[in-house]
Amino acid sequence: MYRFLVCALGLLGTVLAQSVDSYVGSEGPIAKAGVLANIGPNGSKASGAAAGVVVASPSKSDPDYWYTWTRDSSLVFKSLIDQYTTGIDSTSSLRSLIDSFVIAEANIQQVSNPSGTLTTGGLGEPKFNVDETAFTGAWGRPQRDGPALRATALITYGNWLLSNGNTTWVTSTLWPIIQNDLNYVVQYWNQTTFDLWEEVNSSSFFTTAVQHRALREGAAFATKIGQTSSVSSYTTQAANLLCFLQSYWNPTSGYITANTGGGRSGKDANTLLASIHTYDPSAGCDATTFQPCSDKALSNLKVYVDSFRSVYSINSGIASNAAVATGRYPEDSYQGGNPWYLTTFAVAEQLYDALNVWAAQGSLNVTSISLPFFQQFSSSVTAGTYASSSTTYTTLTSAIKSFADGFVAINAQYTPSNGGLAEQFSRSNGSPVSAVDLTWSYASALTAFEARNNTQFAGWGAVGLTVPTSCSSNSGGGGGSTVAVTFNVNAQTVWGENIYITGSVDALSNWSPDNALLLSSANYPTWSITVNLPASTAIQYKYIRKNNGAVTWESDPNNSITTPASGSVTENDTWR
Ligand code: NOJ
Ligand code: NOJ
Repeated sequence: MYRFLVCALGLLGTVLAQSVDSYVGSEGPIAKAGVLANIGPNGSKASGAAAGVVVASPSKSDPDYWYTWTRDSSLVFKSLIDQYTTGIDSTSSLRSLIDSFVIAEANIQQVSNPSGTLTTGGLGEPKFNVDETAFTGAWGRPQRDGPALRATALITYGNWLLSNGNTTWVTSTLWPIIQNDLNYVVQYWNQTTFDLWEEVNSSSFFTTAVQHRALREGAAFATKIGQTSSVSSYTTQAANLLCFLQSYWNPTSGYITANTGGGRSGKDANTLLASIHTYDPSAGCDATTFQPCSDKALSNLKVYVDSFRSVYSINSGIASNAAVATGRYPEDSYQGGNPWYLTTFAVAEQLYDALNVWAAQGSLNVTSISLPFFQQFSSSVTAGTYASSSTTYTTLTSAIKSFADGFVAINAQYTPSNGGLAEQFSRSNGSPVSAVDLTWSYASALTAFEARNNTQFAGWGAVGLTVPTSCSSNSGGGGGSTVAVTFNVNAQTVWGENIYITGSVDALSNWSPDNALLLSSANYPTWSITVNLPASTAIQYKYIRKNNGAVTWESDPNNSITTPASGSVTENDTWR
């Protein structure tokens, strides 16, 4: 019976793989054409857009996406630059398109807009008109992921050009554009931002992760071309970003909390997109940078996927360990709050990336953190390292391959017969919803298919990074100035028990329970302390109680506060 089951499952896996193969074969070229159609001036659906400008979608109403977003454009061109530099598409027409993107983005950087000018924060502006002029309507701004993503795309191109002998153009033309973006990240990384979904104004995992990546590869790139003046500031703030990145992990529930604000569960495609867009094949399953096969990223993937099982009716009746349609976050209501193609592809992509790393290293590791993820595929698996010669490895990886293919198959099932990919598909019947021909949807298909194909891309320096023992949130943005923050917390305590505070900055002892600051009980049951904290900074903190060495933390999520530029503030909290 068992052998029959294994055989039958193997057969199902093969049938699934074949139908996914055929979807990849037909949808791949459609997705590529879909991307190109949305790029001005010659894209068939982008007429009127300036050269090298990516329109988010040709949809001009409900929703109106006839704009160019720095995030979408940078992710889209990163996928094209990857195709060019790996030789998937080495045509001169793609090369010219990339060159026109560079020029378009250089122009856009100079446009003063509601977020500021080039030197006063204007690079955080999320979107522009397709003729490169500023969009001046109300919007969730700034969004600080854009400059980092653009730097990453341009650095990928720059590295290829350097290997091909084009140093002069890189140094004189490309580098100043990249430098603007890197300097923006250095200056503003610790200030609040709207998240990638343009809704929550706080700190956001995706933004922190892509900023960290950009500064790491920016430092290496600048060094390579002898532009060393800012390298130490890139490296210093990269270390601080890596510190801050750790704070999004929710150890109790095994997932990455997407935003420090927002009042939601925090389960969000934000975190999977961060993992796939900061994938470094040579970094193995490093959890510090949340690599796709890291225990934390896999645990997070399961929690995220499971959060959609009961919210979309098209997912009903699907086995609890099989692929389902996923969206931005379970609480989403935008355009009906439906599954998205690009998030469902992102789940598949993370899993393919993981499978590729395991295959390259010849083993996979199950830890107590990733155990629930792996138990979906073998209930008897235990923590340990499994060599590729073991049956456990084979059982797990073939089931995970089918699981990954399942997400592609879901998108395939809900792709209309012309292959068009909108933004969303209906939660109740799977038909396309919201913006048609979303450029980012097409790009997400391309990158997921490439991952399935184990296409090799260059890394960005994630290898061997360690979290510094002391983290500072004091970037250029804070200018080194501090503000006095009084923390009052209402907490009942028993005799001998005291209340302390610790949090994400040096002045709050960087999450160290040992070095946490003692509050005064002079106004019991209100416990108080006044601390000088860096100005204009998003800070997370928690109260802890200590009784004879026993430490009790407040429940999740972290408390957060963004300090003002000057003056003093009082935070009134109640122990959770
Ligand atoms: C438009 C934004 O693009 C989208 O991300 C957001 O969900 C809606 N506005 C609603 O705030
Ligand atoms: C809404 C999405 O939430 C946002 O991430 C995207 O940049 C815009 N639409 C444009 O595609």
